[in-house]
Amino acid sequence: MQGVTELKYCRVCKSENLIVFLSLGPIPLSNSFLRKEQLTEPEPFFPLDVCFCSNCGMVQLAQVVAPEIMFKDYAYLTGSSAPMKTHFTEMAERVIANLDLPAGSLVADIGSNDGTLLNQFKQRGMRVLGIEPATNVAELAERNGIDTVNEFFGEKTAQFISHQKGRAKVITATNVFAHVNDLDDFMQGIITFLDDRGVFVIEVPYLVDMLTRVEFDTIYHEHLSYFSLRPLMALFKRFEMSIIDVERIRVHGGSIRVYAGKGKKKLSGAAADLLKFESEARLDDVATCQEFAEGVNRIKIELTTLLKELKAKGHSIAGYGASAKGNILLNFCKIGTDIIDYVSDTTPFKQGLYTPGMHIPIAQETRIHDSPPDYTLLLAWNYAEEILSKEHRYRQAGGKFIVPSPRPRII
Ligand code: TYD
Ligand code: ZN
Repeated sequence: MQGVTELKYCRVCKSENLIVFLSLGPIPLSNSFLRKEQLTEPEPFFPLDVCFCSNCGMVQLAQVVAPEIMFKDYAYLTGSSAPMKTHFTEMAERVIANLDLPAGSLVADIGSNDGTLLNQFKQRGMRVLGIEPATNVAELAERNGIDTVNEFFGEKTAQFISHQKGRAKVITATNVFAHVNDLDDFMQGIITFLDDRGVFVIEVPYLVDMLTRVEFDTIYHEHLSYFSLRPLMALFKRFEMSIIDVERIRVHGGSIRVYAGKGKKKLSGAAADLLKFESEARLDDVATCQEFAEGVNRIKIELTTLLKELKAKGHSIAGYGASAKGNILLNFCKIGTDIIDYVSDTTPFKQGLYTPGMHIPIAQETRIHDSPPDYTLLLAWNYAEEILSKEHRYRQAGGKFIVPSPRPRII
C-alpha cells in the first residue's frame, strides 16, 4: 500500500521475532478531520496492527505510515489544552529544580509544538530552542516568540543546530519519542546535540497503564512505539547512555518521565522498582498483550450493545472531545451518526469539521448546554476528572456520561 511500510524488525533490538496481537484497522489517520466538501471524496485508510517483540518486550505498530503523510499539517495544539499547560509548567519547574539548572542554559524541546513547554523554561530564564516538523505549528510557535527550527529531528538536524546554538544542557521530548520510526537516527542526534553532562528528558505513554486500563484508543498511526522501562534501557545502552531516573505521571492516560544521560550512571531506586514491577506484570510474555486484545474486543461488543440499546429506547447521545483517541474508538467500534449526533470540542478549528472515517459533525461545547443530550460518550477520557466536574450542571440535570474503558460504564 502506498505510504505504508511493514516493520521488518524491532525498532529497539533489531530482532525479527515480532508477534501481531491486535488489529484495529484499516482506519483513517486519527487527526485527519474533514471539511464538509471532503466527505464525498475518497478517504485514505491505513492498517493498524500492533506487535510484540519476543526478544526485548517492545510493543510497536506492525506498519509505519510515511511521516510526510502524518505530520505535515498537524492539528494538535498543546496550548489549546489547559491541563497540558499546567502539566508543562510543573514539568519545567521540576526539571530546573532536579537538575539545578543555571539561568541561560540551552533547553531544547523536540516536537515542541506551539512552544507551550519552552515558554515555561524561557520565563524561568533559560535559552530555548524548539524543533518542530509541522510547518503550521512551528510558525505559530515563532509568533509566540519561541525560536523554532521547522525540521524532523535526527542526526542531520542535530549537526546543524549544535553548530548554530551549541550543545543543549537539557533536551526534552514529550509525547514524541513514541512517534519516531528511526530511533537510531534520533538517538544519534541526541548524542550529537546533548552536552556531555546534559540530560535528556522524555515523556512517553506507559505500556503498563495502557494494558491494565485497556486504553486501546491511545493506539494510533502516529504512535509507533509503546514503551516500558526495560526496552528503553536496552535502547539507551546501545547508544552508551543510561537511564538516571524515572517518574510515573498521569498525562495521556498514564505516562513515564525518564531522565537519561551519557555514559554509565547509577540506576535510581525508582527505576529499579519499576523494572521489578514490569517483570511482575509479565511484560516479557506475549500472553499479557493477548489478554489485553481480548479486553479490547470485549469493550467493542459491550459499548456498541449499550449504545444501540440506549438509542433504541429513544435516547439522544453525543460525544465529548474530538480527540485522536476518540476517532480510533469510533472507527474501531463503528460508531457513526446513526448513534451519535455530534461530538463537542473546545478547539475552535475542529468545530465545524467532521471526524475521520465516521464523519460525525464536531460542534462547540456550548451545544451540550443549550440542548443537553441524554447520554454523552466521553471520548477525551484522559481529562475525565476535569470534564466531570466542569459538567456538574449537566449531570445534576440528569445528563449521563458513558466512559468506555476498562469496561464501558455509565456515570
Ligand atoms: P487530546 O487530549 O489532545 O487527546 P488526543 O491526543 O487523543 O487527541 O484530546 C482532547 C480533546 O478534547 C481536544 O480536542 C480538546 C477536547 N476537550 C474538550 O472538548 N473539552 C474539555 O474540557 C477538554 C479538557 C478537552
Ligand atoms: Zn526487540
